[in-house]
Order: sequence, then C-alpha cells, then structure tokens
Amino acid sequence: MVKIVIENMAQKEVHGKAGSSALRLLHENMVDWMHACGGKGRCTTCKMIVVAGAEALSPLTDAEQRYRAKNELGKAERLACQAKISGTCHVRVPEEYKLPHLIYTE
Ligand code: FES
Repeated sequence: MVKIVIENMAQKEVHGKAGSSALRLLHENMVDWMHACGGKGRCTTCKMIVVAGAEALSPLTDAEQRYRAKNELGKAERLACQAKISGTCHVRVPEEYKLPHLIYTE
C-alpha cells in the first residue's frame, strides 16, 4: 500500500497500489486534479510540489527532464502523471493549478 498526503487539501490522504502514477492514485480516490493533456506528459497542469517523500517516487521521466531543462518544473516539483509511487509522500497543489471549484487549505 502506498500513500499520498495532500497538505493543502486539509491533509487529505489517498491510498493505493505501488507502481501507480500519482495522478492515477489521485483519480482512483476521487480527488479532482488538473490534467489537461490526459496524463501524457505534454502539459504541466498535473504538477505537484513534493514536500516530503521524494524518494518514494520513480526517477524523472524524459518528459519531466525536458520541463526541468526549460525551468518549467522546479526542483521540488513532479508531474503527477509521470511519477510512480512506491511509498509515502506529501505533496501540495501549486497555486497556478488550483481548481476554481475546490477549497484549498494552508
Ligand atoms: S497531465 Fe499533462 S503532463 Fe501530466
């Protein structure tokens, strides 16, 4: 069992199988998370800020490395559709990709 804690969604926890992408895990747990390209690594709207547990995520994919090289993906940021999870991590929704119909916490 793996776990993602979303700190600015009232510490909401989602659980699932190891090896799933973070985006898949979020969606399986009915968390509304932006994903404009449908999880193909072609936008950055699924971006998550990794606060802790980065070691529980798979290495950067080619798509993520391209965005890093263009400074469109910060050091602590991962694309939820690309990062596969194998443990516990804590993330935050970036300000620019918060959904207007959801209420976020600090
Ligand atoms: S959904 Fe577009 S890069 Fe992840």
